[in-house]
Amino acid sequence: MRQERITATTVRAMKGRGKKVVMLTAYDTPTARLLDAAGVDIILVGDSLAMVALGYETTLPVTLEEMLHHTRAVARGAARALVVGDLPFLSYQVSREEAVRSAGRMLKEANAHAVKLEGGAEVAGTVVALVEAGIPVMGHIGLTPQAVHRMGGYRVQGRSAEAAARLLKDAVGLEQAGAFSLVLEGLPWQVAAAITEAIGIPTIGIGAGPRCDGQVLVTNDLLGLFEEFTPKFVKRYANLRETLLTAFGQFRDEVRGGVFPGPEHAFSLEAAEAEKWERLRQRARARKVTALRK
Ligand code: KIV
Repeated sequence: MRQERITATTVRAMKGRGKKVVMLTAYDTPTARLLDAAGVDIILVGDSLAMVALGYETTLPVTLEEMLHHTRAVARGAARALVVGDLPFLSYQVSREEAVRSAGRMLKEANAHAVKLEGGAEVAGTVVALVEAGIPVMGHIGLTPQAVHRMGGYRVQGRSAEAAARLLKDAVGLEQAGAFSLVLEGLPWQVAAAITEAIGIPTIGIGAGPRCDGQVLVTNDLLGLFEEFTPKFVKRYANLRETLLTAFGQFRDEVRGGVFPGPEHAFSLEAAEAEKWERLRQRARARKVTALRK
């Protein structure tokens, strides 16, 4: 039976029902299928792609084309979850027209159901333009990785009362602009809790404590697959790095030791064909010997 698709409207309504929103990232079809089967509500094709899958040091270099490519792959694997495509750095900051074009491509060419963008008051006008164009928008405030250079590193935001008040104002502004949900990243839990209480759209926290309306993690972090650094807020639910290293090492040893492939992994000729093949080879050998003697 086909399951009903989760929509931006469904997600928004989850806050009223007191149902926590569960979001994880994916960058390919098999992972999207697994998240969908596990009952995750939202699959975010995050620009974290740049760091966890493409080997970049920050999220800044990933392009819109790359994001579209991976979002398409994820959309093919998600039958139920809402697919949110992250707008990469410089695909929405230059002008509202460009933002609408970039976000529109996410829906039109990559089959995303919504987009996410980073920023507070400075992107509220852009959010209005996207929503007017029919594009559901998820906001993202606090520690916004695309602003890593402005922040001077990946630092927890909103640590002073003034900074917290600015974030609260940003959150209210994004709700008023029409965002259907809001990622709160890297905030003291008290600030995230206050924002969650103040706005009517669900907050989805990452490093923002337990009082958000939902939680998100980067899937590679949760699986123990991203070794470069592990932020304090990450909980590892598996250690796939160890599992994979063991499997790769066993393959190496079995190939070198002639253990793999075994007979059960090989294809065999039918007996009649094998006999025919042997006769053909013998005839060819005999012809070669005759030719050499001449
Ligand atoms: O890019 C990403 O994966 C994100 C999440 C961490 C929210 O923005």
